[in-house]
Formats: sequence, C-alpha cells, structure tokens
Amino acid sequence: MAKQKNKVSNNPRAVAVGILQQVLAQGQSLSAQLPEALEGLALERRALTQELCYGTLRWLPRLEWLLGQLLDKPLKAKDQDVHLLALLGLYQLGFMQIPPHAIVSETVAVTTTLNKPWARGLINALLRRYQREQSAWESALAKDPVAHSAHPAWLLQLLQRAWPKDWEAIVQANNQRPPMTLRVNRRQASRDDYLQQLQQQGIAATATPHAPDGLTLARPQGIEQLPGFASGRASVQDAAAQLAATLLATEAGMRVLDACAAPGGKTGHILECSDPAEVVALDVDEQRLARVAQNLARLGLSATLLSADAATPSAWWDGKPFERILLDAPCSASGVIRRHPDIKSLRRAGDIATLVTLQATILDALWPLLAPGGMLLYATCSVLPEENHQQLASFLARHSDAQEQVIDAAWGQAAAIGRQILPNQDGMDGFYYACIRKQ
Ligand SMILES: C[S@@+](CC[C@H](N)C(=O)[O-])C[C@H]1O[C@@H](n2cnc3c(N)ncnc32)[C@H](O)[C@@H]1O
Repeated sequence: MAKQKNKVSNNPRAVAVGILQQVLAQGQSLSAQLPEALEGLALERRALTQELCYGTLRWLPRLEWLLGQLLDKPLKAKDQDVHLLALLGLYQLGFMQIPPHAIVSETVAVTTTLNKPWARGLINALLRRYQREQSAWESALAKDPVAHSAHPAWLLQLLQRAWPKDWEAIVQANNQRPPMTLRVNRRQASRDDYLQQLQQQGIAATATPHAPDGLTLARPQGIEQLPGFASGRASVQDAAAQLAATLLATEAGMRVLDACAAPGGKTGHILECSDPAEVVALDVDEQRLARVAQNLARLGLSATLLSADAATPSAWWDGKPFERILLDAPCSASGVIRRHPDIKSLRRAGDIATLVTLQATILDALWPLLAPGGMLLYATCSVLPEENHQQLASFLARHSDAQEQVIDAAWGQAAAIGRQILPNQDGMDGFYYACIRKQ
C-alpha cells in the first residue's frame, strides 16, 4: 500500500490527475491545491506537474470537445480519473514539446498507477488516433466557438456582449501564460537598485510602464532565487494590482480601511508607500487573513487585522471614520483567467448576479464609514461591466453625497465610470478601478 502511494506521489502525471480531480470534482481552487500536492515531489518533477495542471485547465473546453469526439461513449463517473488522464494526454500532444511517443507511453503507464489496467488500450488508442489525425481535428474544432476559444459558452457570451471589438483579444490573452511581476519595496531599495541586484543574479527584468515599483521578469523564477525576498525587499504582484496604492493616495496620518484585504498584497503596498496613522485590514476569511499577517511580517510592516464581514460594520467598526477606503471587491476574477485558468471551470453563469449583489451590499455598508472629503477606491480583477462601471453607476444613483473622481491615467481605458484594463494591456492583468469622493 505504502509502495503504491509513493509511486503515485512521484509520478507527475498521476499527481496531476489527482489535483485535477480536486479542482473539477470538488470545486477546489488550483492555487489552494497545488502547493501541498507538489511538496511530496522531487524538484524537477514539480515543474512538469504544474505545467500539466495549468495547461489542462487552461485548454479544458477544447480538450473536452476533442475527447467527446474521440470517445465512442462517455466514460462512467467512477472513471473520472481515466477521463482526466485522457485530457492530460491530449494537452501534452497539442501543446507540449515532449516527443509524442514518450507522451503516449508515459500517459498510458499511469493507468497502472491508477489501478485501472483495463484503460491501457483505450488511452493508447485514442491518443494515437489524435496524433494521426491531429490537423483534421484542429480544423474541425476551429468551427466550434467554445472549443476554439477554450472558454465556457456563458462566459464567452458575456465577453462578446461586453466587448464586441475586444473579446477575441481578451480570450487570447486569457489563454496565455502570465508574466511574473515583482513589486520592489521602496522602503528597502529603489526599483533601479533592485533591478541591478537581479541582474547580478543573472535574472533579466524590465520596469513596468505604469506601476512605479514594478519589475517584470523575462522568465518566472522561484521566489527563493530573488535577492532579499525573505526579508521583504520584493513581493510578487501584477502591475495592475500595484496601481491601487498610487490611486488611493494615502497621506501621512490618515486612517485607512482595506476592506477585503487578504492575502494582503495591496495592504503591504499601501504601507510601503505611505505613513498612515492606521491601516485596518479586514477579511471575512480567517485563514486568508493569516496570510496578510505573514506577508506583513515578511515586509516588516504592521496593520490592524480584523476577521469580519465588510457588509456588517456594526459588528466591528469602532465609529472612527476612515479618510481612505479600499474595496478590492470579491468578483468573477474574469480579468485574471491567465493566472487562474481554473476560473473557467469553477465559475458558473449564476455566480455573476450573486457577486454583483454582494459588491453592492458591501459598497453601501462601507460608505457611512468614510469621512466627508474622504475617498473610496473600488477595485475588481474583472472585465465584466456588471461588476464595474454599471455597479458604480447604480451606487452613485443611490448616494447623493458620492461623486466620481475621474482617474486621469495613461493606462487602460476610460469606462463610463472609472477605468478598465483589459488582460495583457501593457502586460497587465485585467483590472477595474473607480475613485469615489464623499462630499
Ligand atoms: C480580490 S480578493 C482581495 C485581494 C487583496 N486585496 C490583495 O490585494 O491581496 C477579495 C477578498 O475579499 C474577501 N471577502 C469576500 N467577501 C467578503 C466580505 N463580505 N467581507 C470581507 N471580506 C470579504 C475574500 O476572502 C478575499 O480575500
């Protein structure tokens, strides 16, 4: 038994099947599952396991379409592991630079590890057939919008409706691998100094055009390779997310509320950039809030941490107003699909209306906490207007003491209210920001 377990945990393809099962059958997020699953693997096997999971989830609607065509009849629910193994094989043949014969034999071998020797012939036959007929299948799938875009139909429709001119570019960007971007801790080093430190380690990077502390790496690196990472000299954060601290324009002595703070990327940046009297970092998820504590400890910074629901301030607010509120709202994450391809499978069409209601409830609940003359920065990593400018239009209509402060910036594009960045615009994640002033 122990031998069998060991064998499973050492085989990247078998481990990938297990992780995909957690994501697709149990609705767990990939980023939550991956770290623990990789722990048991030798270093050189981790990269392959990660690539197999990200790649298969990135292209899942396309791979499912292909498998549906290649199988005479669907596999039984109890054989979901074999189904996932077949998808994994198709992903490797379509997208990875591994010799096809090795892909087929290594993938077929996993049927033994899964204790399903009967599936050997099936996996072997369908992968070999795909390999023989690959170009015909590629032309056939180009005619199916879901398979071709590798996006679920509901999401594709929302994107097409919201972005009639840009949806193809959005879909394409969502299917790309994201860059790794760092935020240099300006309390410890200037961006130029850190760039030099990276270069001395043989790590190539370029300054981000809009985020003043950002450096995008030419190739992703393990954080342990980054100079001074453990002592807080840099953090991993996309350039779009780094715009929040600049927009919030926190001044010395202000009281700041970061209302949905975990894991604390923006909290840390606010504290690196300014000397507020206090930052209250709130999150409803206690476990995620623990990550804010860890991240701030690494940066040598501190905030007041509260595990509470932003929608019910009566339970936690001490009555002292805030001059700044950042609401980095729970959202569809439709702007960061390139970083979290599992969103394509985990989100459902019905989630959007639920999220829009939650965002409106939190906005209304937090508004009384803002001091007159103060500013609320609303942010999402979404490209859907329902969660962004339409949300803000309804908010402004409900609150006569709220006024938009137009963002004058060289990044993204002006929306009816606020500013929208589409995925991969200037290399950034898809993001939305709106500044609302209280009269
Ligand atoms: C987009 S993430 C925040 C990312 C974070 N601002 C950062 O930069 O690292 C949204 C967060 O909202 C939290 N959240 C969702 N509903 C909430 C609520 N009702 N009250 C407080 N936090 C909530 C989630 O737990 C999640 O951590």
